Amino acid sequence: MQYRHLGRAGIRVSELSFGSWVTFSNQADANLAADMMSAAYEAGVNFFDNAEVYASGKSEEVMGAALKQLGWRRSSYLVSTKFYWGLHDGVNERNTLNRKRLLEGINGSLKRLQLEYVDLIFCHRPDPTTPVEETLWAMHNIIETGKAFYWGTSEWAASEIVQVIELAERHHLHRPVTEQPQYNMFSRGRFSGDYVRFYKEYGYGATTWSPLASGLLTGKYKGGIPKDSRAMLKGYDWLQDRMTDKDRLAKVEALEPLASGLGCTLAQLSIAWCLKNPFVSTVITGASRVEQVHENMKAMDVAPKLTPEILAQIDEIFGVKNTEEEDD
Ligand SMILES: NC(=O)c1ccc[n+]([C@@H]2O[C@H](COP(=O)([O-])OP(=O)(O)OC[C@H]3O[C@@H](n4cnc5c(N)ncnc54)[C@H](OP(=O)(O)O)[C@@H]3O)[C@@H](O)[C@H]2O)c1
Repeated sequence: MQYRHLGRAGIRVSELSFGSWVTFSNQADANLAADMMSAAYEAGVNFFDNAEVYASGKSEEVMGAALKQLGWRRSSYLVSTKFYWGLHDGVNERNTLNRKRLLEGINGSLKRLQLEYVDLIFCHRPDPTTPVEETLWAMHNIIETGKAFYWGTSEWAASEIVQVIELAERHHLHRPVTEQPQYNMFSRGRFSGDYVRFYKEYGYGATTWSPLASGLLTGKYKGGIPKDSRAMLKGYDWLQDRMTDKDRLAKVEALEPLASGLGCTLAQLSIAWCLKNPFVSTVITGASRVEQVHENMKAMDVAPKLTPEILAQIDEIFGVKNTEEEDD
């Protein structure tokens, strides 16, 4: 496993990490979560991603119980959580990054995770109704109390991130160190245009999500929706159109000869592709069973085999003319 700096921050994250969205509590109890986390940790993963909203807080409870079972040295791994959507419908409790919500939110997360601190906290989405100064001060104060060490943004516009970094620098407050954008062969927008400029200029990190587009890039949806897949889960039927879209499925199928030529699976090819982006600090993988973790972790051996020619062929399949040109 290689470790990459989280942007300009001193901390280093394993290039592959492991997250709990959808899976923990819905598909995995604490025992299975511990087994999957253990498989990831043994492969070198040091970063485990979570969010307050995942399974309405239960994902944090499952991860907390799993961590307790695993008993790892606390300094050997990083845990994150995120705030925005909240857990209750109260006027100040939903879709907000107000100071009260954030300061109360961290206490709830720590309790559910059974941890004294998390390493990273994210503002899960921007909140245009709260002054960014208020959110910045709240994140700064959480860090100053030792309840978290670093903070980041998720799916914020480049201009919003630049604004908060500049404010933080002007007032000597803890600045955010990383973005958490979606990134896979289908969703590349957050690494083009303005984003590239500020990853470069501001040394911002990127902990990227859904490398397999929720499983579509594994090829397992080509014969229809498998019964035991994410798209069949209660509450995730919104994924079904995406997973059965003919155009998308054709692109996945076109990747098959590339994967077999490299002697790897489609999942490994797709995760390795994310690793080739130099602005990516870590690719957050997800899994519903231990075998998937084992398979996905081998993507790190596939990444060095992705030559510029293979990357160009992938761009062609996805209708991207020239990534270099697009990025500059
Ligand atoms: N910041 C944000 O807004 C945000 C949003 C989403 C996710 N995230 C983070 O990113 C993490 C990863 O996202 P994700 O779970 O969507 O990642 P993903 O890699 O796109 O999808 C993971 C899912 O694909 C299936 N899968 C994985 N490996 C497989 C394999 N080798 N063979 C067959 N199926 C396989 C599994 O689902 P089934 O087996 O159930 O089909 C698994 O749960 C999340 O856990 C979370 O931490 C963040």
